[in-house]
Amino acid sequence: MTIKNKKSPPPGSEYNGCNFVIFGGTGDLAMRKLLPALYYLDQDYHLNEETKVVGAARSTLTEEQYINKVRDAFTKFIPVEHFEEDVWERFSRRITYVSVDVESSSSFDKIKTTLGKSFDKLISIYYLSTPPGVFSAICQSLCDSNLVLENSRIVLEKPLGMDLKSSRQINDAVAGVAHEKNVYRIDHYLGKETVQNLLALRFANALFEPLWSGAHIDNVQITVSESVGVEGRWGYYNDSGALRDMVQNHLLQLLSLVAMGVPVSMEPDAVRAEKIKVLKSLKIMTPEEVKTNTVRGQYKDGVIHGERASGYIRDQQPVGQGDVDGADDSLEQSNTETFVAIRADIYNWRWRGVPFYLRTGKRLPSRFSEIVIQFKDVPHSIFPETANLAPNKLVIRLQPEESIQLFKMSKAPGLNIGMRMLPVTLNLTLPESVVSKRTPEAYERLIFDVIRGDATLFVHRAEVEAAWKWCDVILDTWADDTLPISKYAAGSWGPQAAFELTARAGNSWHEKH
Ligand code: BG6
Repeated sequence: MTIKNKKSPPPGSEYNGCNFVIFGGTGDLAMRKLLPALYYLDQDYHLNEETKVVGAARSTLTEEQYINKVRDAFTKFIPVEHFEEDVWERFSRRITYVSVDVESSSSFDKIKTTLGKSFDKLISIYYLSTPPGVFSAICQSLCDSNLVLENSRIVLEKPLGMDLKSSRQINDAVAGVAHEKNVYRIDHYLGKETVQNLLALRFANALFEPLWSGAHIDNVQITVSESVGVEGRWGYYNDSGALRDMVQNHLLQLLSLVAMGVPVSMEPDAVRAEKIKVLKSLKIMTPEEVKTNTVRGQYKDGVIHGERASGYIRDQQPVGQGDVDGADDSLEQSNTETFVAIRADIYNWRWRGVPFYLRTGKRLPSRFSEIVIQFKDVPHSIFPETANLAPNKLVIRLQPEESIQLFKMSKAPGLNIGMRMLPVTLNLTLPESVVSKRTPEAYERLIFDVIRGDATLFVHRAEVEAAWKWCDVILDTWADDTLPISKYAAGSWGPQAAFELTARAGNSWHEKH
């Protein structure tokens, strides 16, 4: 059955039809992000009429039950003002459901049967939104049931393993079924409009590139701060921790975009080659360096936005249980970090000697992600009226709101104050006139790119492995450390040691939140 669009699509907005199969189709990510992203793409006529969406998961559900589940999820995750009944009507007719057992290729045969003629006619995209432990089994079953053709694409969600060894096993299993060019490893930070704008800032403007090196830049700070806790994901998070959950992927991806050289083009391999060079130039720390260059912490009870917030250990209880003040001996103790601050060094010509400070944590005072490029001080000040000239900073705010600000010094106005300097902020943010009414969600952009076959914003195997190699020594050193993890109060900026980390090199975290 083909689906007729009610309004005609704008010219050029249609792409080839595909079979979009989501493993983990009943899971939280599918309901919260993937299916809404597909809905938005349909709303904007970016899904070809023939495109099918197949939810695949272990639960035994009828197609109708699955569609109802998706509809329920949309009432939660799609704001009312963006939900259109006729779009839902069109979208829901694309959806089918298959109950699969990842270990049994015979259950995968049902996918082919469900797709019918579309299987040979359209490109099939297999989105693995399951725990990574079953990635290899899914790949094997896809292979055994001949579901992967020359043009099929495989999309992998993070986490890609727990360390270099396990990530290699996953990458090998995937390489056994699909060529690297057809493997799309998602890092949803790369789908954020603002993150792509970083490429525009650097490479569509002549202004910054000549200054973009250790010759002019003193230090770089990348902070991804969250005010939420582990949000019911204690089981996953406790095995993972902030380094695996955020640094190995999102923060190192941001670092590679800031530090990369100019790619020869925006072709996927050209962009990724530059990022790979950066990740391979990260100085692998010795265990001694891990002790001085990394800080890890775990939140304890505290207060955020005037409300009491429970500590990490208590967060393993379902919401509403347990008393914030009372000790509960039945709870598992944990050395898992919910906060990390790291000084990373890149050993190449451009960046040698420039500290890259990475910081991320849960239950911090506010939610924001920001990259701060701090330039060097002027070599000599000729303005004695001002004791300290603040260094120039380029502050790129990725979320919650997008902004780019340049901090500079300016003369304070007035006749009788001499040449006194004031720090002022220049706003380089996109004017409202060009901001669209709804900024596409990261997943929308990335799924759209998978459908179009553009891998520029996806992570190459070599990037994942270089990132793990750098993280592994940190994880191993922490694992050998018998000292208890530093606790920080929920609602604070993490352990004091995070401030000492920057202070040791004469730097400090940018503060203007
Ligand atoms: C995910 C992590 O990858 O990114 C979460 O698993 C984290 O722990 C989330 O909360 C942050 O993403 P965003 O887009 O809200 O900054």
